[in-house]
This record gives sequence, C-alpha cells and structure tokens, in this order.
Amino acid sequence: MVFKIGLLGLGTVGIGTAQILLDSSGRNPLLEEIVVSQIGVRSLEKTRPIKFPPGVITTDLVAIVTDPEINIVVELLGGLEPARTMILQAIDQGKHVVTANKAVIARHGDEIYEAANRAGVYVLLEASVGGGIPIIKPLKQSLGANRITSIIGIVNGTTNYILTQMTTAGADFSDALVEAQHLGYAEADSTADVDGLDAADKIAILASLGFGERVQRESVYCEGIRKVSTVDIAYADKLGFVIKLLAIAKISEKTESRILQLRVHPTLVPKSHPLASVEGVNNAILVEGDPLGQVMFYGPGAGSGPTASAVVSDIMNIVAILKSNNHTQTLNPLLSCTHQHYCQITPIEAIETRFYARFLTKDVPGVIGNLGRSFGNYQVSLESVVQIGFKEELAEIVVVTHYVCEGNFRTALDEVRTLETIKSIPSVLRVL
Ligand code: HSE
Repeated sequence: MVFKIGLLGLGTVGIGTAQILLDSSGRNPLLEEIVVSQIGVRSLEKTRPIKFPPGVITTDLVAIVTDPEINIVVELLGGLEPARTMILQAIDQGKHVVTANKAVIARHGDEIYEAANRAGVYVLLEASVGGGIPIIKPLKQSLGANRITSIIGIVNGTTNYILTQMTTAGADFSDALVEAQHLGYAEADSTADVDGLDAADKIAILASLGFGERVQRESVYCEGIRKVSTVDIAYADKLGFVIKLLAIAKISEKTESRILQLRVHPTLVPKSHPLASVEGVNNAILVEGDPLGQVMFYGPGAGSGPTASAVVSDIMNIVAILKSNNHTQTLNPLLSCTHQHYCQITPIEAIETRFYARFLTKDVPGVIGNLGRSFGNYQVSLESVVQIGFKEELAEIVVVTHYVCEGNFRTALDEVRTLETIKSIPSVLRVL
C-alpha cells in the first residue's frame, strides 16, 4: 500500500522530515509505504538542500489540504496563520494531521480537536514538545495509569543553549543566541524562545495531557531569560545552584482539588537536582505521579533531525492505523483528545516558592537589619544572606528565602525599595 503525505513547510524540520522519508533503508519498513506527494512552501525561489521531482513543490497550500489523494497532512509551517486554517481545512477534508506547531495547539487546540473529533481524524503532535524526546505519547499512554502531580521541564533548547554557554563558557547572551539560530534551534522570531513564550506553549500542552483538562494558554505565567546576567549565574554557582528556564505545571500544594500552578521563569536549580545537569540544546521533562514516583525524559529538544524523528513517528502511527484497516469514526482515546473542561489555575501571587534576590546597598551599619525587618513584616523568612562583593562603592547583598507566598514577597520588596540605604534591586529570581 502507498500512503500519501502532504508536507506543509520545508524549513529546518520539514527538510529533516523529508530526509527521513526519502531514505528509509535500515528504518521501520512502514516508511517504505509512505510517499511525500506534495510539499507546500512560501517561495519557490529558495535554494534547498534536497532536489524534488518537478511538480512536488508548490506554493498552493490549499491544493494540498484539499487533494483527495493525500491521506495525511504534515503541518510544519510554524506560527499561527496560515497554519491554523490549513489544519482546520485538512481536518474538514477528512485528513489526518501531524503537527510540530506548539503555538497553534496551545492557543487553538480546543477548536482543532473539536473539529478532529467531529471528522473522526487524528491530530498528532509528538514533535510539538521536547523535539526528539518522546513525551506526548508517554504522557497519554505509558503514564496513563498515574495521578500526575507535577511536570517540570526544560523545554526550550535555544534558551538552555544560551544559559549553558553563559554558564560554562562565559559567553555573551547575544552571541549565544546567534549561535543557536545558526544551529537551527531558534524560532523564526527568537523572542518566542528568549521571552519564554515557546516554553509556555509547551507547558500548556503538557499540563493539558498530564492533568486531563484544557488549559488556557494565557493563564501560563511567563518570564523569559533576558534579565539573567552573568553576575547572577556566578552568585548562583557560589550558592550551589545553576540557572535554568523551567516550565512548571503542578498541583497547588494547599488545595485538595486540582488547581494548578502553571509558570515559566528562570529558576535557580540546586546542582544536585536531575534538571541541573541538562545542558546545551537538550531538554528534559521530570514527571511525578502516583504510584510511579519520578521519571525523567531527556534528549535533544530542538533541531532538524531530532524534531523530524518525532514527526515521522506520528506519521507512522497513523499509517499503522490506516493499514490495519480498523480506522473508524470512533477514535482511539489514547491517541485523540476529548478534554471538555478548563483547568483552574492558581494566580502567581498565591503560589509558594523560594526566591533569590540581589540588592545594591550603601555599605553602612544596619543595612542587613533593615532588609531583614522589611521581609519579616510580611512573613518572608530568609534562608541565607550573603554579602560578597562591592560594585562601584555599593555593597552587593544576596538573599535566598525559605518557601514564601509570592504576594507577600512582592509586598516586602515594595517596602525594601523605599529604604534609604537600598540603591537598587538588580535581580529577583525564583528558586526550585
Ligand atoms: N525553538 C524551539 C527550541 C524549537 O529552541 O526549543 C523546538 O520547539
């Protein structure tokens, strides 16, 4: 049998996908039955590393999603439009869809899955989170017997690459970003990586799968890595931490019902924690559940080959279903999405976490006492206070708190800002 694929997009991941599908030797024999019949691109002028037979590449995306010969549409355009419209049109035409598009799924997953369920087709998305790491199918299937309590991940390869270069090679932020772009890790608009938006899309998807409800993308609290400086990386190192951009989804500890914390921010991670040693473009997702305990998924989180590996695995899953002739309008619930309700999310001010803060102060008696008093006024208990360096006549004081309510910590900082001896607060970061 031959199964025809319509590929939308021939960027980094599209090329990787075509390369696998055009070179099936030594891989799963199912690949021999899959043919890339049409490829939709924005421009025919671009030079590409693979030559395709005449007529395969077209700028007419609609012709691909409406072609009656095509069984599976593989959406690798990235961005919201025309990706969303093409996915919906493909579904409307009764085609199965494979996508790597976390932005579209995180924002429009509800309408896409409602349409897919009505049409009786699959929309698979293994490549949307964690690049080459299997995490979508494991969450939906292998870990399905568990009550998931937390999902904490390094889910953006570009920012992990930048932070690793800044930490281990003393690299400058912008140089490391340019390198990540050259290596094909970054989004077309790298602000999605640097400002944490890509990681927020991904944790919204993982939370929905892990906790079995829909997640409103805008309810993910999000801070990127622009404000992480080499000074804080060095202080974190002295205190026994590394700084990572973490995406966190977990059940709020103070509630019995399933109210979630959902947040993305740079975080001081203890060097002994399993996520601390995840370096470069690698991603890792630590899932905790009952009765499983902890399991960590680790591997290359971005790039052409790894992401294409996940895309092709989804294509193969659909082909296997089509081949076994048991595809009916009733979808396999372990591969489809039937969520109806939206998760409740804890406001960021109500979460309990630890903080790291760095202050530039006058070097006079009583400064640390004043700081301690302001924090004490709002039940913010300090775990450590260190004064290590001086910066242009000012003392540099770093504090790490115990677990505190974020709202109380913010109010305490507001009071600290009014203290005459405190000149500035260059950084405030959360601690895992
Ligand atoms: N820009 C993304 C990253 C690509 O750096 O992780 C994979 O989604």
